[in-house]
Amino acid sequence: MIRTIGIPAETKDGERRIALEPSAVKMAISAGFEVRIQQDGGVGAGFTNEDYQAVGAKIVPTAADVWESDLVCKVKEPQPSEWGYFREGLHLFAYLHLAAEPDLARALMSSGVEAFAFETLSYPKGLPLLAPMSEVAGRAAAIMGAYYLASGSGTLLGGSAGVLPARVVVVGMGVAGTMAARGARGMDAEVTGVDIDLARLHELQQQGTITASLASSEMAIAEVVKNADLVVGAALVPGAKAPKLITREHIESMKPGSVAVDLAIDQGGCIETSRPTSLSHPTFVDSGVVHYCVTNVPGQYPRTSSRALSAAVAPRLVDLARDPASERLAGALNVSKGKIVYKAVSESLGF
Ligand SMILES: NC(=O)c1ccc[n+]([C@@H]2O[C@H](COP(=O)([O-])OP(=O)(O)OC[C@H]3O[C@@H](n4cnc5c(N)ncnc54)[C@H](O)[C@@H]3O)[C@@H](O)[C@H]2O)c1
Repeated sequence: MIRTIGIPAETKDGERRIALEPSAVKMAISAGFEVRIQQDGGVGAGFTNEDYQAVGAKIVPTAADVWESDLVCKVKEPQPSEWGYFREGLHLFAYLHLAAEPDLARALMSSGVEAFAFETLSYPKGLPLLAPMSEVAGRAAAIMGAYYLASGSGTLLGGSAGVLPARVVVVGMGVAGTMAARGARGMDAEVTGVDIDLARLHELQQQGTITASLASSEMAIAEVVKNADLVVGAALVPGAKAPKLITREHIESMKPGSVAVDLAIDQGGCIETSRPTSLSHPTFVDSGVVHYCVTNVPGQYPRTSSRALSAAVAPRLVDLARDPASERLAGALNVSKGKIVYKAVSESLGF
């Protein structure tokens, strides 16, 4: 039976989000739960200890105090420094991305944590707890891409009178890809959207979100990526390791100083040359192409991101605290009683 809910301060590099804003904490307290917030956990997102106390939360001094709660809700996957808090029967609700995190998966399995992932929850449809952060990350991808093109090839997305605009290719036109395309279009770039979902491409082209569309295939991607100034990878198969759609060969065919933003890096990356980077060291250069592969892009916009995430998470958190078997948590359970119980995750991990 769950009586206490704990919200720790985030520990990932550069991460300033918090899982619940005060109004969402109030919702959980009104539903009858005690909510413990780690001291100063909300400060990075502009929420003070007093803001949380005013809605009835208990401020506790250390992470250990928070992790003693029956249910811990946080933003990013627990970092190795937090794995020591795992114990049998603890309920965890957070982004987990286990297909790309085998050691975390093992730690959750061996400790007997009941682990629910934001990113695979699929009730009532779509991925409602992934979408708000994909929206933020997609918008940020256009900003970051435009920014790194300056120091890369020196290209401005919108061009100028007498100079063609830059060419942007977005692979995976879901929530993140669409927002990246909108951002790049907003800066007057030419944007080609690539997806397997032709109806989605049709809709986005009609709306003017993309200037051209392309059905996803190895050859099609090779052709458009070669001429792109900026490529954004945002393809997802829920729960599974990201498909490597943009190969090393594709990246090597790009002009020097071009930029590749791999948003799917949290699921292992959909660009072959990608490796995870952090907010403090966001880029590296491979084959002359600047790679931006930050696994927690929304963490740099903590105010907007925390509010958007909190609004989506709060009702599901109360559902989970009341009844972990609720149908409103469909798809979220990833690890239970020492086993991976989400098929795409176990297939990707091979255990
Ligand atoms: N790096 C970060 O900080 C960050 C933040 C938020 C989201 N993300 C990640 O961004 C990725 C996209 O998330 P989303 O919410 O937009 O997902 P989504 O489900 O809304 O969209 C995924 C899209 O990929 C397409 N797709 C699947 N296979 C494809 C293929 N072979 N070729 C082309 N397209 C294909 C799907 O049709 C779909 O349109 C996820 O990996 C997510 O975890 C990363």
